[in-house]
Amino acid sequence: MNFEQAKALLAAHGQEHLLRYYDELSAAEQATLLQTIANMDWSFEEELKNPTDLTGAGRDIKPIKGMDLPEIEARKAEFEAIGVEAIKAGKVAAVLLAGGMGTRLGVDGPKGAYDIGITKPLYIFEQQMKNLLEVVAKVGAYVPLYIMTSDKNHEATTSFWAEHNNFGYPAELVKFFKQDMAPAVDYDGKIILETKGMPAMSPNGNGGWFATMKRAGLVEDLHEKGIEWLNIYAVDNVLQRIADPVFVGATIATGVNCGAKSISKTNPYEKVGVLCQDGDKPDIIEYYELTDEMANEKDENGNLAYRFGVIMNYLFRLSKLEEIVEQKIPVHIVEKKIECLCEDGITRKPDKENGKKFETLAVDLVKLTGSVLPYVVVREKEFAPIKNKTGVDSVESARELLKLNGVEL
Ligand code: UTP
Repeated sequence: MNFEQAKALLAAHGQEHLLRYYDELSAAEQATLLQTIANMDWSFEEELKNPTDLTGAGRDIKPIKGMDLPEIEARKAEFEAIGVEAIKAGKVAAVLLAGGMGTRLGVDGPKGAYDIGITKPLYIFEQQMKNLLEVVAKVGAYVPLYIMTSDKNHEATTSFWAEHNNFGYPAELVKFFKQDMAPAVDYDGKIILETKGMPAMSPNGNGGWFATMKRAGLVEDLHEKGIEWLNIYAVDNVLQRIADPVFVGATIATGVNCGAKSISKTNPYEKVGVLCQDGDKPDIIEYYELTDEMANEKDENGNLAYRFGVIMNYLFRLSKLEEIVEQKIPVHIVEKKIECLCEDGITRKPDKENGKKFETLAVDLVKLTGSVLPYVVVREKEFAPIKNKTGVDSVESARELLKLNGVEL
């Protein structure tokens, strides 16, 4: 795309200001800007005009049946045998969602490259791979691994993995793919300029991971390998159990399309989204959507009825994902502090929200699968999220939990 074409395209969308500093840019910067404009995903315009109703009005919310620890313990041998067999037969792959920006943690570069060690380095990626390698050793088979990155961290992520010899994993089993980016806009719908030569673009959420895998040609790769199940997981949980044979077996044995690792809420007001039913379909209800009555409702065993808090570790049936991949998942419009070019030509992060980003969420894909098994895990053993530097869900709290699990820091 040349300058004139870009100008005409932007004029049609009311975004001509993106070329305001074009003449001040180097030839390489000009070329990058034109390329970014040519690749721009304009679907945000429709989202702004007709935002998806995310209020949940009109839903028929009921508690969902799940599998609690006593049942899992009682059937552990049965589930483990099924899981081990599936992994040995090469039917299970893992997908690491690592395209996020980790803004709350506030570090440059990929969150997985963060060193949580104290006396020696221990990177988040490394700790997660240690967990996966435990499964490999136990089962005697590798699980192919796919890693989603974004424009913002792709090079840094791939070179970090190369530098660390894929943390002991065979290189031919690790494949990277890049998710799409979406522009950020101000309150008038104008795309924000981050620098003179670049609009503010950020990863478009973790909901599009499977559609992106498909576009990247990786679904053929899954078929060639005979994969039937995909275990997706977030980069920020250092106690993440990946391709856990018991979980894999329980999901397969119950015949659902999606297994969802969950922590069991004991405090009715804990701030975590919980699995539920909307009529006869599985759904997720956010903590702020639960009424007092729902939050405190008990089931026949005296447990909280809405207790299955999701932790971003799901096992999806591949054939179901292929069936639903073309279905639209809601776009969440979120107000954020977006780094922007100030009048003095310097890029700064504002003190308060200055615009909107467009994101899809993996959890919305869970609903579309039609049948979900909430599968409870021991919180202290499997859930140590790192979202912040200090306080709740932080480097500090994750370190404590790692120590509790015998990890030397
Ligand atoms: P979070 O929702 O915690 O977002 O991601 P984040 O971008 O990492 O962190 P903040 O909100 O900026 O502080 C949960 C998981 O989903 C991945 C993240 O990498 C993390 O594993 N993710 C998030 C993506 O892969 N792509 C995205 O666009 C967003």
